Amino acid sequence: MDLISNMKVKLGSLLTTFSKTLDYVDRTLSNHHLRVAVIADDIAKEYGLSRETRRDIFIAATLHDIGVFSLRDKRRLAEVDLNNPYEHAEKGYWLMKDFTLFNNVAPIVRHHHIRWDNGKGRYHGEEEIHPGAHIIHLADRIEILLRKDAEVLKQKGPIVKAIVSRANTLFDPRLVEVFKGLSEKEYFWFDASYTDIDGLILSRDVVPDKELNVDELEEIAKLFSHIIDFRSAFTAVHSAGISTVACAIAGLTGFSLLECRLMAIAGYLHDIGKLAVPTEILEKPGKLDEDEMNVMKSHIYYSYRILESIKGLETINMWASFHHERVDGRGYPFHLSGNSLPIGSRIMAVADVLTAISEDRPYRKGMDKDKALFIIEDLGAKNSLDRGIIETAVDNFDYLNELRHDVQRRAREDYINLKTDASLTESCSQGV
Ligand SMILES: [Fe+2]
Ligand SMILES: [Fe+2]
Ligand SMILES: [Fe+2]
Repeated sequence: MDLISNMKVKLGSLLTTFSKTLDYVDRTLSNHHLRVAVIADDIAKEYGLSRETRRDIFIAATLHDIGVFSLRDKRRLAEVDLNNPYEHAEKGYWLMKDFTLFNNVAPIVRHHHIRWDNGKGRYHGEEEIHPGAHIIHLADRIEILLRKDAEVLKQKGPIVKAIVSRANTLFDPRLVEVFKGLSEKEYFWFDASYTDIDGLILSRDVVPDKELNVDELEEIAKLFSHIIDFRSAFTAVHSAGISTVACAIAGLTGFSLLECRLMAIAGYLHDIGKLAVPTEILEKPGKLDEDEMNVMKSHIYYSYRILESIKGLETINMWASFHHERVDGRGYPFHLSGNSLPIGSRIMAVADVLTAISEDRPYRKGMDKDKALFIIEDLGAKNSLDRGIIETAVDNFDYLNELRHDVQRRAREDYINLKTDASLTESCSQGV
């Protein structure tokens, strides 16, 4: 497959796009992560940090609130003085800490709300806090104070005043001085409120130019699958399940090892558009009404558009984002059919149905083997899903189900550990 051998995905473009999706769920916080990244980098540069250090700070800033899952918690972060901001920072750290790509970055995310507290905030226990954590803390609060619907230069006075009054208590006074200097330069404010934030980001020398190998791509996709899934207890293990099932069916269908791994990556990302769907809809215990159903349906359109903007992910996007299309053209949102539906997309559609009907949902329990087999065979007979792939899935049902069960059990443990471990360590952070 030519498309695969030409696959070159840049870390910078992946991060910028994924960073934006973190703010999808609340339009009032639109582009919060990217704006914090720009403000933090302006401060870090003026503070005289090396390009390498600034790059770590930039990456941490693009992902700093990945530990926030619900709209309610997100809205709470829009208040200026925060009550217990440590839990989401700890969760973010917990999600990132095992990934080699984020070794330097995870501790910055962990401490991005640490108070300066007259210098005590230099350390967390024995650990010296990365200056980037204090920089992101400051940049984050500046971004929250900045009203996007009002003229920007007029806001300088009140924002500087609010920040200066918190020097030493909340913020490192040296950084506050740097900010005061920057605030005299108009470009800083125009940067912070610039509409074409993507363009502004891409021109920065801190955007990582690194090309990702398959291991690294899989790491980031897995990290994001947690962010997508952990928003609701009902979807907490869905992407892990479909990723494994799709990869296994691909193997049974004759895909190469590399293709199977790309299928697993596509599985991790297939519902990335759900980040645009409010948790209340994801978790509604009854049937969705028409409006809610329309919002839910839009998730797949968002998946397609999000992945489309990342160069090199074209094949993965096709496999991931056509999982609600049907062979007979009755799927959505593009109503593809026949030859326009690649085999990888057909596999993903079967894997999605198979995984979804076996899981518990807010409105029903997971189905047993007989019922699940009846449903998928029927979808094959109606030419809704690919008959050949259904046959493979039915012939190997026990094998696939066992794999799914195993991987989802482990993902469920991660989900529970995230909740308990991150809450336990929260008290440590508060003591700093
Ligand atoms: Fe935060
Ligand atoms: Fe934030
Ligand atoms: Fe979906």
